[in-house]
Amino acid sequence: MFTKDFQIVRAKYDKFKQINRFVELVAQGVKDEGADTIRILDFGCGKSYLTFILYYYFAVRRGMKTEIIGYDLKADVVARCNEIAARYGYDGLRFEVADVTRDTLADTKIDMVVTLHACDTATDYALAYAINRKVKHIFSVPCCQHEVNLSIRKGGELDLLLEHGIIKERVCALLTDSIRAAVLEGAGYAVDVIEFVDFEHSPKNLMLRAVHTGKKRSGSREKAEALREQYGFKQSLLELIPKE
Ligand SMILES: C[S@@+](CC[C@H](N)C(=O)[O-])C[C@H]1O[C@@H](n2cnc3c(N)ncnc32)[C@H](O)[C@@H]1O
Repeated sequence: MFTKDFQIVRAKYDKFKQINRFVELVAQGVKDEGADTIRILDFGCGKSYLTFILYYYFAVRRGMKTEIIGYDLKADVVARCNEIAARYGYDGLRFEVADVTRDTLADTKIDMVVTLHACDTATDYALAYAINRKVKHIFSVPCCQHEVNLSIRKGGELDLLLEHGIIKERVCALLTDSIRAAVLEGAGYAVDVIEFVDFEHSPKNLMLRAVHTGKKRSGSREKAEALREQYGFKQSLLELIPKE
């Protein structure tokens, strides 16, 4: 991400902005907690710029006993990330090859789940993992929300929004993230949906920031289910987390 004279590589500038802001938001989210250990899972970590900086923040800057696992489909990228973690002596940081929509993942107590642009339904599986284990903190920036767009059909007063491909794509992405927020609320999370960086640094700039409080918001999930019924789409998180 940096040149030898410590300038930001031009092509990496947007990613630099994203991960800095992401870590700032994580830091704000946990600032009042006195814990001296933390366990984090990163779903779809890719080259893991975020994963490394999170490890640095908690383990080095805050001196906490830190364990982070990054999951990704790509074996070569995972191997490279493990080499770099070893080179820095980051012994609490490891990367595993996994398809998060299918494979068995860590079964220990996790304090935080993060996703940054994990593709399509990989985000739903990350959220479902967190909900099922009542993980306290979730910071999730979705991307490539194709599932609803591919399955939705006309069914009511919002049909006009489905007339033109580009509008349909954007509406379906927003609908997907609204449903995710609703499912989280129905499962006992307080949820904020925020613009985590300016649009110029990523068109996929919405973050679902959620904290488990145990207080279930009634009504949100039901509204999501009613829309699914009316417009006939498939949405993985609604399926993965059945109504209680
Ligand atoms: C757009 S990249 C983002 C990488 C990184 N989080 C970042 O923001 O720089 C999405 C990553 O998710 C991974 N991915 C997509 N689907 C996945 C799945 N089902 N299981 C694990 N990783 C997945 C891809 O291999 C890719 O590395």
